[in-house]
Amino acid sequence: MNDILRNQLETDGYVVLEDFLRAAECDELKSAGVELTKAIPDGQDRIVFSTKEAMKPQLRDEYFLNSNDKIRYFFEEGALDETGKLTVDPSVSLNKVGHALHLLHPIFRCYTYSDRVKSVCHQLGFKEPAVVQSMYIYKNPRLGGEVVPHQDATYLHTDPVPPVGFWIALEDATVQNGCLWMAPGSHMSGVHRRLTRNQEKDGKTALVYDKPAAVYPESSFIPVPVSKGTCILIHGNVVHKSAPNRSSASRHAYTFHVVEKDKNLYSPDNWLQEGPAAPFVNVYTTPQIV
Ligand code: FE2
Repeated sequence: MNDILRNQLETDGYVVLEDFLRAAECDELKSAGVELTKAIPDGQDRIVFSTKEAMKPQLRDEYFLNSNDKIRYFFEEGALDETGKLTVDPSVSLNKVGHALHLLHPIFRCYTYSDRVKSVCHQLGFKEPAVVQSMYIYKNPRLGGEVVPHQDATYLHTDPVPPVGFWIALEDATVQNGCLWMAPGSHMSGVHRRLTRNQEKDGKTALVYDKPAAVYPESSFIPVPVSKGTCILIHGNVVHKSAPNRSSASRHAYTFHVVEKDKNLYSPDNWLQEGPAAPFVNVYTTPQIV
């Protein structure tokens, strides 16, 4: 087996795969992402997504927890007023859509269970890779919010093999429009904290962190600007972030996470759980149309 990818992921915590998708393929996915903005739900379903802990209304809301088997919409903080009314055009109002695009949407399903993804999973040594979630990230001009430093394993905890994120740039991702920033090697320091389902049934929030957020020095991060069509593989334990998009260019991306199911625990207190309508389907097979 070709171990180059696996070695690089184990060494740096991420791998940049240029030309993973062709320009026309990116355009097809981007069109599908833009199309989703034309089906934005009514006011009562308008939920802001923020990675800043002081602004996490979704944690008090079943909307997020129940998005495992649905296509749900999460808005930018700057796109809604206090009553949930849109203050910007719907086409630029979304932070992301998730978390079952890979199952429910024919175009996203096609690209998620593609031969290229299968090949990468083989090269990474996966025996039974399963896709657990997918997201379309908009990072719209001037509205696209910051993603604070985090490890994906905080949210999707597996043991002993961590998850791997596939992050595909559908447009050029630059320092100006909010590309990813990575802390190379940070994946070697374990999982720093976890977000789990709150076992206290009368708790104020449905999800709780087990520890306060770690503080990471700015100097540990390097920007990873990439061109349209590049896929960045993200080790579940590597610390990464992205800045707000202050530019006039959008930075659309499609991302999904793969976990090893063979002899590997998928933590039962992760927010995201497998369900009848959201099976964790093996990448080496092709899911039936739900
Ligand atoms: Fe992440």
